[in-house]
Amino acid sequence: MNMEDIKLEIKNEIENCNDLNTLNDIRIKYQGKKGIITELNQKIKDIPNEDKKEYGMKVNEVRELFNELFEEKKNSLEDEALNKKLESEKIDISLPSTKIVSGSPNILEKLIEEVESICMSMGYDVVDGPEIEEDKYNFEMLNIPKGHPARDAQDTFYIEGEEILLRSQTSPVQVRTMLAKGGNEPIRMICPGKTYRRDDDDATHSHQFMQIEGLLVDKDISLSDLKGTIDVIVKKLFGEDVETRFRPSYYQFTEPSVEVDISCFNCKGAGCSICKNSGWITVCGAGIVHPNVLKGCGYDPKVWSGFAFGFGAERLAMLKYDINDLRVFYNTDLRELKAFDRKED
Ligand code: DAH
Repeated sequence: MNMEDIKLEIKNEIENCNDLNTLNDIRIKYQGKKGIITELNQKIKDIPNEDKKEYGMKVNEVRELFNELFEEKKNSLEDEALNKKLESEKIDISLPSTKIVSGSPNILEKLIEEVESICMSMGYDVVDGPEIEEDKYNFEMLNIPKGHPARDAQDTFYIEGEEILLRSQTSPVQVRTMLAKGGNEPIRMICPGKTYRRDDDDATHSHQFMQIEGLLVDKDISLSDLKGTIDVIVKKLFGEDVETRFRPSYYQFTEPSVEVDISCFNCKGAGCSICKNSGWITVCGAGIVHPNVLKGCGYDPKVWSGFAFGFGAERLAMLKYDINDLRVFYNTDLRELKAFDRKED
């Protein structure tokens, strides 16, 4: 075969080649150990000296042609293969995505966190206390001795005999905090947490519910300090135009004791179902810490005075989010909880 024919054949074969495997076969055919171009190279030694130069140049032309066409073809076949692969792996971003279900804050926790941050802004610490409590802290040291009728309303679950119980209120954390401080340090704390009572569950009662306890101990503390503090909390929670009023009440661990009402944020006093047409809503119990309690916890009542308050967390959340059944918080019915999905606010 003369060189020109070889060139023609190279052109033809490479041009008609449509895949990388065939292209590799062609490479072996021309440049393999026994390939056509390899053999042409080897033959140079049999060529008479005077023709060697010309022969060598022609073989070079063949090799260069082959290399050029081969590289070109190889690149184009590789590009094609890559494009095919990309095409087959293409993701259609216009397709609707699978919906990812994400959780949202529990409405009760949200309310508690809100109260926590309001109180923290006034210098309060958020503290914790045990839910399994001793009678001594839950009742005795709060001025509620054994046999006191006030215990009836706070009957709870007993664990070991009569001394270990599930706390019926968060007020024992007042006692624990005062004892821990040792009687010579001012205190500002709130304690949100679970409480228990032997109640039948209905729209406004639950055997397990939550309270937010507050205690401030310092010098020369009066009811007006208490009123100012509660004012700030309820205004931040329910709106700046909400007013507070105190009604006389009775708790064993505070003297005097009050019931705190807020003006109805819904009807502004005109009367509606939330305030039961009275224009006022009761939100917490409070009072000036009883001298017996201070004394029992190591604080000299002649030097120290303080106030305490206790909110029902569910009650606040029910008012704020217009919920009329307390069981919504505990039934874990996702359909009901969805309605209060307020991630953004
Ligand atoms: N512990 C009371 C209850 O469960 C609520 C309460 C009233 C807490 C007055 C207080 C307070 O700290 O001063 O009914």
